[in-house]
Amino acid sequence: MKCKIPIKRKELEYYSCTPILQTMRRSAKQHGYNTIWGAIWFTFWSVVDYGLHLGAQFSPTPGTRVWLQKRRGVKIGKNVQIGPFVALDYVFPNFVSISDGVSIAGWNYILTHVTPLEYHNCDFDSYVAPVKIEKDAWIAIGTIILPGVTIGEGAVVAAGSLVTKDVEPHALVAGTPARFIKRLTRYKEHNSRGGKHDSEGKGSPDNG
Ligand SMILES: CC(C)(COP(=O)(O)OP(=O)(O)OC[C@H]1O[C@@H](n2cnc3c(N)ncnc32)[C@H](O)[C@@H]1OP(=O)(O)O)[C@@H](O)C(=O)NCCC(=O)NCCS
Repeated sequence: MKCKIPIKRKELEYYSCTPILQTMRRSAKQHGYNTIWGAIWFTFWSVVDYGLHLGAQFSPTPGTRVWLQKRRGVKIGKNVQIGPFVALDYVFPNFVSISDGVSIAGWNYILTHVTPLEYHNCDFDSYVAPVKIEKDAWIAIGTIILPGVTIGEGAVVAAGSLVTKDVEPHALVAGTPARFIKRLTRYKEHNSRGGKHDSEGKGSPDNG
């Protein structure tokens, strides 16, 4: 779906339970569609986008997952692997960017927006913010990455982690919330040998 707002942090309306038409109008405005016709166009593409979102999660091969996520507006570089059942933000997929050589294992959630209930507006911000996953990072299985986070080049997010802050390049982080565990050195050795990444091949059919 084409989103017309610039890819940078933007405050959003808080969530309130409203009738479906009002909800769609609000969502359309958040994506930069301010007219009635714009809202209808946006609503149509939201339905298409939902199909792509489901297809990308259930698709059996990494190549089709990447292809479908790109159709949703996710920016994806070369030689990227995406595992099964990976949810890249349902509402603002175009705020996710994934650089070359990144591997995202299955069952991961990458979120770019947070819209708390109106009732909580004194306690939490409501916003959308870009998530960037830099070159050659590895996101292991079952993690959650929150809005606005950048995962640095060559960094590793260990299985089951919840990432609330930026991760430095070539760092291993783990846990909930994710904490720095150690600096990764093998990546540099690998590069200095002129090694190639596994992701340059076709990869396994199931990057779970
Ligand atoms: C990243 C990973 C490989 C690191 O595993 P590892 O080599 O055992 O890590 P280390 O030995 O360097 O562990 C260092 C510390 O971090 C902790 N740690 C490692 N992985 C952790 C995790 N997922 N969550 C919390 N803590 C973790 C270890 O317990 C250890 O703590 P200690 O020093 O207090 O004993 C592993 O956590 C992981 O995520 N594996 C990927 C599994 C996966 O996604 N498979 C499918 C796709 S390929």
